[in-house]
Amino acid sequence: MLKLSAGPADLGGLKTPALAILLEQVVGAPSLGALDAAIARSVGRVITNRDFRGTRDETLTILGADGGVERVLLVGMGKVTERRTALRRAASIAARRAHQNGYAGLAIFAGTVSADEVESIALGAIAGAWEFKDYQTPPPEDERRAPLNEVTVLGADAAGARDGIARGMAIGEGHTLARRLAMLPGNVCTPDYLADTARDIAKRHGMSVTVLGRAEMEREGMGSFLSVAQGTPQEPRLIVLEYRKGGNKPVIALVGKGLCFDSGGISIKPAQGMEWMKFDMCGAAGVLGAMEAIAALQLPVNVVGLVGSTTNMPSGTAVKPGDVVRASNGKTIEIINTDAEGRLVLADVLAYAKRFSPAVVLDAATLTGACIIALGHGATGVMGTDETVVQEVVEAGKLAAEPGWPLPLWDDYKELIKSDIADVKNSGGRPAGTITAALFLKEFVDGYPWVHLDIAGTAYSETDLGPLPAGPTGVPVGTFVEFVRGRAG
Ligand code: BES
Ligand code: MN
Ligand code: ZN
Repeated sequence: MLKLSAGPADLGGLKTPALAILLEQVVGAPSLGALDAAIARSVGRVITNRDFRGTRDETLTILGADGGVERVLLVGMGKVTERRTALRRAASIAARRAHQNGYAGLAIFAGTVSADEVESIALGAIAGAWEFKDYQTPPPEDERRAPLNEVTVLGADAAGARDGIARGMAIGEGHTLARRLAMLPGNVCTPDYLADTARDIAKRHGMSVTVLGRAEMEREGMGSFLSVAQGTPQEPRLIVLEYRKGGNKPVIALVGKGLCFDSGGISIKPAQGMEWMKFDMCGAAGVLGAMEAIAALQLPVNVVGLVGSTTNMPSGTAVKPGDVVRASNGKTIEIINTDAEGRLVLADVLAYAKRFSPAVVLDAATLTGACIIALGHGATGVMGTDETVVQEVVEAGKLAAEPGWPLPLWDDYKELIKSDIADVKNSGGRPAGTITAALFLKEFVDGYPWVHLDIAGTAYSETDLGPLPAGPTGVPVGTFVEFVRGRAG
């Protein structure tokens, strides 16, 4: 685990393997005060010479002095509009670089920083230092590089050092958990594995946990969820985690799609790239990560996390196109495409959420490829029954550096999911695929305001992003945490 601390900008006596200086697109050299004069001159020179311009994600390494600041890593933030977002991104780049290069320690300097900025830098550093090496044999001892194990944020006052670091670490725990769960392959991260993870979170943070299996779901009449699960011998799991530290405040429910693998089922997906569908549980990972972070932050709130988990497989027992199933709220569904399985799982989980009388329900799901066509990888699709809460989620996403963008959830689109034989069909074809998926979910929402996050384009990346490698991004942990923190008052 990465050791994090913060303190004043004591550049004079600084001893560190590496000092990262995070800089906005440069106009002049930064004030480096008491930093070793020779190093400060070098920094000034690369800036004056325009060897380093401070454009976003730009880096330059300068060698320092043995026994003092051994290296200086300049990291550009470009033209900054959102300072916390920029600091976090640059800190992530710095930590990732330090880790790759085998610097055991890293000090980060970005001038004077508030507690909130310390939190952002800490979070960025944790994200950047994260890696997943569980299944690779480490190189021989003499070829190994030191892992980055210590990060110090400079320029903080006492409050920044205390609160900023604590909060950054708490949210970082959540992120790290979500990214790890996402990265684990489908043969390891099964519905039971997610249930065990929930039990572990519950145990460490004094939450209660309920896990439903096939039999319990049958008793609840969850024919929609179970139709997806009927193609796999694995036990499906509906996982409920209850964090109740909010006295008599109303419940916030967080719901996540937990498809441990999505082959498409009988409507099977093309082989090319199918391995990415192990990430079809990123909504579930987001819920578990957020529960971890919310508990670590000790927020005075009542939050119920719900995860619907199974694996979508073709088999002799699998559900078929044309089949009609009944969800626990009584509605019938004609299954047009077995690859539109996430909504079938979530239908019963959303109906189940009603029993907690939630003040609001947010769900996150890698639900539609169409969302990637609409918004690319830059924004989560946000839709809901209440404009104000949609906006609240978008604002939470901004704070978390997890941009979200609203799509219209107009009733007119419901035409597309009208069935000739059942109450609704599970696919409306390609037009407005993200919206019709959300409208399908809405059929199972009752008695609470609800916002749906389609994270298909944002929960993981197939390419290296710069601050983060290819793989899970941690989305939607930050959005969930900021939303709940906002409601904590
Ligand atoms: N898990 C997929 C959505 C997805 C696709 C996420 C690509 C991330 C990347 C979902 O279960 C799915 O297959 N959706 C279908 C719906 C269609 C059959 C109506 C899709 O998007 O093609
Ligand atoms: Mn699918
Ligand atoms: Zn899916």
